[in-house]
Amino acid sequence: MTGPAIGRGAGKVILLGEHAVVYGYPALAAALPGGVELTASWQVAPAQPAAPAALAAPADPWRMRVELPQWQLSLDTGAEPAHPVARALAALWRELGPAAPASPPASQVPPGAAVELALRGQASIWPSAGLGSSAAFTVAAARALAALAAAALDDDAAARAADAAERVFHGKPSGLDVALATAGGAGVFERGRGLTPLHLPPLGLVIGHSGAPRSTADMVARVAERTGGARSDARLVALGAAVERGVRAVAAGDLSALGAAMDAAHHQLAELGVSSPRLDEMCQAARAAGALGAKLTGAGGGGCAIALVPSVSCAEAERVLRAWSELGLATRAVALGAGAPG
Ligand code: PMV
Repeated sequence: MTGPAIGRGAGKVILLGEHAVVYGYPALAAALPGGVELTASWQVAPAQPAAPAALAAPADPWRMRVELPQWQLSLDTGAEPAHPVARALAALWRELGPAAPASPPASQVPPGAAVELALRGQASIWPSAGLGSSAAFTVAAARALAALAAAALDDDAAARAADAAERVFHGKPSGLDVALATAGGAGVFERGRGLTPLHLPPLGLVIGHSGAPRSTADMVARVAERTGGARSDARLVALGAAVERGVRAVAAGDLSALGAAMDAAHHQLAELGVSSPRLDEMCQAARAAGALGAKLTGAGGGGCAIALVPSVSCAEAERVLRAWSELGLATRAVALGAGAPG
């Protein structure tokens, strides 16, 4: 190993098209500046005094330890673990196959010593907020583990491994989160077709956290129930049309038209039952403060709303930030598009 085995995955924000994307419509989304960064390393504990035979540890007892502010667990490789993060990592491990680190070099392990694989890192996006924290985590883990194994892992292979883990968290994810966590940038995502990169014009987004937890799986199930699983449902069709208008607006650099498409999308998402009184209140407050458009982002039911502003330093951004702070919300502003810091 030359240098630390570091892996990164980006968070994401869906500008348009959540839920409809599950039914094959396109979605417009961008990676966030920030996400999850993990470092993988072998930890060799000193040899323990020999245990009585009945209590002896398994012959090859290495474990994986993950430490993030929100998650702390150990993954014993022998049995299927109960914690979803551990189960997700086990799925990721299996999908990595030969790109997963096998064991530390024998020369580094004194006889009888216990070996653990540690993943340590930090997350700079809110967890469980619709900002793709689980995909950022799984992509970062795939890359850090492959780096520890000194294995080449291209973006497709990293995405496949991360997707196996995402299925543990979300059942049948569209793949949008993993695509953006892997590739970064911005683009139009379509199930089966993947991410088509798209340049965003310079723009600002104010992101506010409603403070309410949410479950992607529950919200996806709610939409399935409301639509009867029919792609032809009028609300899904309208969401798909809003994405098309939004993509045209992006190509033309027309932020007002993009904002209008976002407002229309929020209305349809509310009709599908995935908004909440708090998210509606946030969107109304943002529009009253001068935002060009506002909507929930991600699965909804809680999590975050986004407000479109011309830039992060304009008066409208200041006013949205103030309005949402007065509602007692956690907020942040991000610059996206040409010239934005990566
Ligand atoms: O998990 P979230 O909140 O980022 O939502 C993902 C977006 C959905 O369209 C609701 C689900 C999906 O798999 O695309």
